[in-house]
Amino acid sequence: MNLQQLTETAAAMVAPGKGILAMDESHPTCNKRFSKLGIPTTEANRREYRHMLLKEDEMGQYIGGAILFDETLRQTTLNGKPFAERLTELGIVPGIKVDKGAKDLALHPGEKVTEGLDGLRDRLAEYYELGARFAKWRAVITIGEGIPSEACLMANAHALARYAALCQEMNLVPIVEPEVLMDGTHTIERSYEVTHAAQQSVFEQLDEQGVALAGMVLKPNMVVSGYECPQRADVHQVAEETIRCLSSTVPEAVPGVAFLSGGQTDEEATEHLNAMNALGGNLPWRLTFSYGRALQQAAMQAWNGDAGNIDHAAKVILHRAKMNGAAARGAYKPEMEQAA
Ligand code: 13P
Repeated sequence: MNLQQLTETAAAMVAPGKGILAMDESHPTCNKRFSKLGIPTTEANRREYRHMLLKEDEMGQYIGGAILFDETLRQTTLNGKPFAERLTELGIVPGIKVDKGAKDLALHPGEKVTEGLDGLRDRLAEYYELGARFAKWRAVITIGEGIPSEACLMANAHALARYAALCQEMNLVPIVEPEVLMDGTHTIERSYEVTHAAQQSVFEQLDEQGVALAGMVLKPNMVVSGYECPQRADVHQVAEETIRCLSSTVPEAVPGVAFLSGGQTDEEATEHLNAMNALGGNLPWRLTFSYGRALQQAAMQAWNGDAGNIDHAAKVILHRAKMNGAAARGAYKPEMEQAA
């Protein structure tokens, strides 16, 4: 493990005013989003779409790292450049999703555990050769009647820590993602409680496995009310509760916290991040974004599977990247949406 390389990579991923573009949807997820818009789910379309996301050179000003799916890391852009090379040219660190998805946790109805540890060391070696310098593994925690169980929190935290250790051995920065889903009627208090418990077990396990905190990035959910909760917390409360939670679970040595958007609208996700950074205070870690849907959904609609829309759609994602780049500095204002 080369700790200096890991800390330099992590610093580049969450550099000031930059965040991470999650464009690592697995085939089923990507196909589901294409199908919703009536876009044919072909390899050629996935390639054209991802070419579009990285078309604008200015993306490199707001994006420090991009997470790819296995297929994309092996593809070239429409200009014939391997995607990892295109990213490097933009000053964006190439990353790769390495988990094999969340599967039903045995004997625990309604709960999931993420798979993919078997053979991971060899896959990581190949991904490094292909140009990846960081990786992502997503654990999924569901809030419901009597869940999450301790068994679920424990199993997921353990898998995340073993994955993170394998990554660091290969000089890949692990993005450690314990996602507490925000679907449901739960209150923000319940969201806090579960997020806190999930993060706490993750850091216990990371410590147990000897993971170097200076060479990782945490990718958590924000502490928001369940989407169907009758009384939803406002932006300010979300910012305060999220920071309160992180402050009690995330050691100072962690260089960056890059949030997932988890089904928030584009502007909500931007406003929440901005509010946290605008609160100020001397936080030990950088707070930024690692959004999938909240960066891509408007651009996917604008593209709509039509090569003639590539130029326009590329400007749509550039705009979202710019808004979130501003939010990462606490400098976003809703008027900036109109100015574009
Ligand atoms: P969303 O921002 O769409 O939640 O996706 C982020 C991600 O990479 C989940 O693993």
